[in-house]
Amino acid sequence: MCGIVGYIGPRNAAQIILDGLRRLEYRGYDSAGIAVIQDGKIAVRRDVGKLSVLADRMAESPIAGEIGVGHTRWATHGKPSERNAHPHADGDGRLVVVQNGIVENFRELRAELEAEGVVFRSDTDTEVIAHLIGMFYQADRPLDDAVRLALSRLRGPSAIVALSSQSPDILVAARLGNAGGVAIGFGDGEMFIASDMPAILEHTRRMAFLESRQMAVVRRDGARFVWLDGQPFQPKIHVVPWDPVSAAKGSYKHFMQKEIYEQANSLTDTMRGRVDLGSSEVYLEGVRLTAEQACSLTQMVSVACGTSYHSELVGQFMFEALARLPVRVEYASEFRYRDPVIDDATLLLTITQSGETVDTLAAMEEGREKGAHLATIVNVIGSQAARISDSIVYMHTGPEIGVASTKAFTASLVDQYLLAIHLGTLRGTLSAERRRVLLDDLATLPTLAGQLLDPAGHKVYEELAQAFFRFTNFLYLGRGINYPIALEGALKLKEISYIHAEGYAAGEMKHGPIALIDEHMPVVVIAPQDHVYDKMLSQVEQVKARGGIVIAVASEGDDFIAAKADHVLRIPPASELLTPILTVIPLQLLAYHIAVRRGADVDQPRNLAKSVTVE
Ligand code: AGP
Repeated sequence: MCGIVGYIGPRNAAQIILDGLRRLEYRGYDSAGIAVIQDGKIAVRRDVGKLSVLADRMAESPIAGEIGVGHTRWATHGKPSERNAHPHADGDGRLVVVQNGIVENFRELRAELEAEGVVFRSDTDTEVIAHLIGMFYQADRPLDDAVRLALSRLRGPSAIVALSSQSPDILVAARLGNAGGVAIGFGDGEMFIASDMPAILEHTRRMAFLESRQMAVVRRDGARFVWLDGQPFQPKIHVVPWDPVSAAKGSYKHFMQKEIYEQANSLTDTMRGRVDLGSSEVYLEGVRLTAEQACSLTQMVSVACGTSYHSELVGQFMFEALARLPVRVEYASEFRYRDPVIDDATLLLTITQSGETVDTLAAMEEGREKGAHLATIVNVIGSQAARISDSIVYMHTGPEIGVASTKAFTASLVDQYLLAIHLGTLRGTLSAERRRVLLDDLATLPTLAGQLLDPAGHKVYEELAQAFFRFTNFLYLGRGINYPIALEGALKLKEISYIHAEGYAAGEMKHGPIALIDEHMPVVVIAPQDHVYDKMLSQVEQVKARGGIVIAVASEGDDFIAAKADHVLRIPPASELLTPILTVIPLQLLAYHIAVRRGADVDQPRNLAKSVTVE
C-alpha cells in the first residue's frame, strides 16, 4: 500500500509531491518522506506518523527544488520509524530510492553488501536497492543503467523511483513483477510519476503505465521507455477520464475483473505494515489479546456468511496447525438459532468484507452476551463490525465494488494466516525458526499470484468459457485445505453466471454426487501437489470412468494429471497452507469469463447486494 509520487518541472517539487501523497492517504501508511535536489544536493525530510507531521517538519525546515520524489510507507522490513521511512540513500548520499514492494532475497543481498563494507542505516529492504544502485553507478555509467543492473539482482515484486544529484535532470522509475502500479504522467513542460493515478490526476490525464520489467527515464519534456534488458519500447498513452468511477475501473471491463487482477498487489497491501520479514515478527496492532489471554483460550468459533464463511473454512486449517486451537466454523445465519457453547475462553472470529452483514453482526452480539473475545477481519474501515469488535484485523485491500467477492477473499486468507502466526507466537506453539519459514513463504505469494495473473496466459479462460458457457450444471471437488476452495469456486460461478454449481468434499463424491456424473457434467477438480494429491487423482479417474469432463486446477509441471484431465489450469508451487490463495484465482477467472460469455451483469448480479443488511 505504499504510495509513490515523483515530479520534474518548473514548479516546487516538494509541494506537488506532498499534495500528491495526501491524495493517497486513504491507502494507509505509517511514515512518509520526500527528497528533492536543492542546490545540487539531495535534501530529504522524513517522519513517522501522518503526512501532517511531515508537512510541519517541512514548514519548519523547508526544502525546494524542481525535481523530487516522495513516499508513504507501510512497514514490511523494520518498524515504523524515521530511519526506516523512505527515501533511502546509498553510502555517500548521491542517490535516493523509494520502493513499493518486497525484496525477497534482501537478507542475502544485505549480507553480501555488508561483507563488502557497506554500512546500513535502516532495517529496510529498500536500502539494499539504494546501495546496489550506488555500487553500479560508477565511472560514466548512466543512472538508468545502474538501476537496471541493480534490479537484475532483486527477487520479488518491486516498483521503484530513483533520484541522483549526479543526474539532476532525470527520475528513473521501474517495475519488477506485480508490485504497485507505476503511472507516468505527461504534463506541459513537466512530468509526474505516481503509484496511483489519483495522486496526479489534477495535473494531467495523459498517462502511460509501466508493466513488469519496464523502466521509464523521465525528463521535464517527456520520457524514454525501455525494458529491463535495455530494449526501447513505446508505451500506449491513455487519456484518463475525470469521472471517478471510470477512472477507478481503468482499462478493465468490469470491477470484478479489475479486482481479480489487483490481487497480485493487494496481497502485498494486506501484509504491509504487519510483517517484518527481517526479524520475522508479525505486528497486529488491532489485536488486543495478551499472551495470558491467548494461552487461556479453549476454542475458536469462526462465524461468517458466503465467501467469508469459505475463507474461515480455510482458516480453520491455519489456526489448528499454527496456534493449536480447536476451531469450529459456522454459518452466521444459523449460529444465532442455536444455543452455541461459547464462553469467556472462546475467541469468536468473524470475517466480513462489508462489516455490515446483519447475520454476522447478530452472531457477534451473541458472542458478546456470552463473554467471548470478539475478533473481526474486515475490509471497510469504521463499519459496524469494526466498531463493536474487541480486536480488528483490517483486510487493507481497497474498496471491493464487484458484488462477487474476490480480492477480499484472498486478503482475509492472508489476514488469518498472520493472525494464526500471531496467536501461535502468543501461545508458544511456534518456534522462531518455523515463523521465519512461514513468513518467507508468505513473502513469495505476491510473485506467485502475479505469475497466475499474467494476462499473457489467459486465453485459456476464454477458450474454456467458449466451450462451457452453455452447460447448466457444474460440480467442484476439493479435499483438505482446498475443499473450501471447491465451495468458493462453485459460489463464484453460480452467483455471476447463474449456472447451477455445487462444491463438494471430494471424498464424499462416492456417497451420492457420483450418480450425477455424465458427459453433461463438467467437474472442476482442485488438485495441487499436496498431501491429498493421490486421493484427488483417484477422483479424476472415477469421473473419467463415468464419462464426465474434468477441468483440473493442478501444479505446474504435473504431467500426470494432464494426461488424465480434459483441461488443466496451472498454479505455481507454494506451501500447502497458502495454496488456497492461488487455487482460487483460476476459479475466479473461470467464473468471470463464463459469465461474460453469457452476457451476464458481472458486477451486479441479479438479486444480490454487496452488503446484506437484512435477514
Ligand atoms: C460473495 O461473492 C458474496 N457476494 C457473498 O457471499 C458475501 O461474501 C457474503 O454476503 C458475506 O459478505 P461480507 O463479507 O460483507 O459479510
